[in-house]
Amino acid sequence: MTVHESVTGPTPDEQRLMQRRLEKFMLEYEFALREVETIVGILSDEFAHMHDYNPIEHVSGRVKSADSIIAKVARKGLAPPGTLPDLDVVRASITDIAGIRVTCSFVDDAYRLFDLLTRHRDITVLQVKDYIAQPKPSGYKSLHAVVETPVLLSTGHVRIPVEIQFRTVAMDFWASLEHKIHYKFDGEVPDRVRAELRDVAQAAADLDARMLRVHREVHGIRSDET
Ligand code: GTP
Ligand code: MG
Repeated sequence: MTVHESVTGPTPDEQRLMQRRLEKFMLEYEFALREVETIVGILSDEFAHMHDYNPIEHVSGRVKSADSIIAKVARKGLAPPGTLPDLDVVRASITDIAGIRVTCSFVDDAYRLFDLLTRHRDITVLQVKDYIAQPKPSGYKSLHAVVETPVLLSTGHVRIPVEIQFRTVAMDFWASLEHKIHYKFDGEVPDRVRAELRDVAQAAADLDARMLRVHREVHGIRSDET
């Protein structure tokens, strides 16, 4: 990979230095992801031991590859294709380098887990996008939060952004199907399939609403309680 090249291009030493900086940069995201995964893992274990049910169905996390970071940088017009701008610019403008997905049982759980998680003293909320209250035109639903967490390195603390997506099993099912279809059509999904997907998203939302009703009834929870 190359850095933002000058007319003559970077020397081998400059290339090596940039490579080392990028490795350190990526490692910081690995650490931040680990911090947030630990916090979610503790909540999940505590729920499993202390409560009637665990609202966390499963958790997955990933750090974006260097290639997808470079592709997103180019898509956002931050640097010419195949090059990287200053890493501080990358940190400030691409907030989903570290991402974690928390799949929950019921719609209420998505909000409840968001509240619990963001109460942690090491979690600072930078941005929230509620695609559950306001689904995307595609039909996509999830609660997104960009948070920042401190990571202690030998050189001191660095604050690293992590994107957290909260969604139900039904929302997750829909999103993974839609993602595969998008990939299959290389982004050019026919209108008929798009319409069908919006319809399916509605069916998933109906299922979530019914599941929540049954859950509340079984647990004797009124609809004005959580
Ligand atoms: P990205 O460049 O995709 O990260 O867009 P963004 O920075 O504007 O963020 P946005 O809130 O739109 O979405 C971020 C992430 O949510 C994506 O990387 C996907 O994981 C997920 N997502 C958003 N929209 C859709 C959608 O229509 N379908 C599916 N399957 N996933 C979506
Ligand atoms: Mg993204």
